[in-house]
Parts: sequence; structure tokens; C-alpha cells
Amino acid sequence: MKVLIINGPNLSRLGTREPEIYGSMTHPQLVEKCISWGNELGIEVEVRQSDAEAQIVSWLEEASATSMPVVINPAAFTHYSYPIAEACKKNPAGVIEVHISNPHAREEFRTKSVISPAAKGTIAGFGADSYKLALISLKGN
Ligand code: DQA
Repeated sequence: MKVLIINGPNLSRLGTREPEIYGSMTHPQLVEKCISWGNELGIEVEVRQSDAEAQIVSWLEEASATSMPVVINPAAFTHYSYPIAEACKKNPAGVIEVHISNPHAREEFRTKSVISPAAKGTIAGFGADSYKLALISLKGN
């Protein structure tokens, strides 16, 4: 099984961006972790990051075309991107929404996700382990 992990805007700055909220792991370290969790689970993992909505929509389209499951951290797009939500809905293999922090325990604007209704499920608040839990859930299916 191959899984595409998509990280949205500003996640490339993990490690230096609000480490008290997002931790000290950098994006390259997160990529390494996800690949190694994938290896343990027998899942081939590819991780991509973009700050651009159009790029993320096109990656979601690409995954849908081959029925590849997606784990997505839409970052700030979580809260308002209908194009990303609609692209998630199209994937027959399903999309899992993940967050490093728990948006529900933060500012009011973060409590709304327009992606959640298009996702199979949402995992939030477990740091980098949110991605691991998403991969475990895909393995179980
Ligand atoms: C985030 C939460 C979002 O509200 C925020 O805009 C992010 C990261 C998380 O992983 O906790 O960029 O998706």
C-alpha cells in the first residue's frame, strides 16, 4: 500500500514555528519519521509540503486518480478551504485529516474545520504521533 501525506502552509517551518505548540521536530525530521513508521507498518509513504492551495488540490486529484489514500494536515487551509475539502471528497480510498496541535483547545477560528466533513476521520493533538496514528488506522482497513 502507498500513502501520500500532504502538509499545508507553514509546516515547512516546523521546529522554529511556535515550538511550544508544534514541538521541536523539523519538517525533514517529520518526513523521516513518517517514512520509518510506514516501513514498520509495510506502507510506502511519500510526504509532500506546499504553501499553495492549487498545488494541494492538484496532489489530491493525483491521489484520487490512482485511489491512493491520503493523510493531510491542511494547516490553516483547514479552516476555510472549500477547494481542498471538495478535492478530499473525491478520493475513493479516503482521506484522513491530521493536526499536530489540538485546534479545539486553541483560538475560536481553529475550532471550525471545513475538511472534517470530507474526511474519513480526524486525528489531532498528538504531535507528530498524529501522523503515526493515521498510518496505523489505514493499515487496519
Ligand atoms: C495545524 C493547526 C492549524 O490551525 C494551523 O493553522 C496549522 C497547523 C496543526 O497541525 O496543529 O498550521 O494544522
